[in-house]
Amino acid sequence: MANLSPSLLACNFFELEKNLDILKNNGIKYLHLDVMDGNFVPNISFGPAIIKQIREKYPEFILDCHLMVNKPENIIDDMLNAGADIITFHPESTFHPHRIIQTVHKAGKKCGLALNPSTGLDCCEYIIDDLDIILVMSVNPGFGGQSFIESQYSKIKDARKMIEKSQKDIILEVDGGVKTSNVDKVLESGANLIVSGSDVFNQNIESQLDIYNEKL
Ligand code: DX5
Ligand code: ZN
Repeated sequence: MANLSPSLLACNFFELEKNLDILKNNGIKYLHLDVMDGNFVPNISFGPAIIKQIREKYPEFILDCHLMVNKPENIIDDMLNAGADIITFHPESTFHPHRIIQTVHKAGKKCGLALNPSTGLDCCEYIIDDLDIILVMSVNPGFGGQSFIESQYSKIKDARKMIEKSQKDIILEVDGGVKTSNVDKVLESGANLIVSGSDVFNQNIESQLDIYNEKL
């Protein structure tokens, strides 16, 4: 069973409430929230203050927060206070990934690593028992609307094997360039949490959700 985690990065923020209602009414459980600092990635998005407002108005969504910031340890407490349910961050963005995971777990929330296209799975190996989620980036982080990097299918397959070997119920999330036209292949490769931004929000949202709901 897989889930869709629509990325709000592609959402028209003047229609945020209307669009969140559409997601909710179409059975969407997860929201993918991309936090960018203009430093780890060359783009700036939104942070804990906006996420807190979403949390307060929509308590039912699982807030899947993807941190693309340097030194994520500086905003972890704010993210937790804002109501994040899942936090993923990039191992290159901090000297102490495992310490961040411990902090998130102390708050009773899920935590995992987000892997850039060139980052190997080896950074997960020795801390696999502490991971709730592995996020494979299928584009370079920072922008929506990019094309899926084909070489990442084999990383998704390898991540699935690693998860099976661990015998742990680790979520395998894939983020970037996912569309209704390639989601089947992403699922067949072993992903069970699918991020899609521009493909959901840049056209009729309800008909896109119908297609995804059928495929997932
Ligand atoms: C990119 C973000 C993605 C992005 C995906 O850095 O992490 O979550 O919003 O957008 P699409 O689905 O348009 O590639
Ligand atoms: Zn993301």
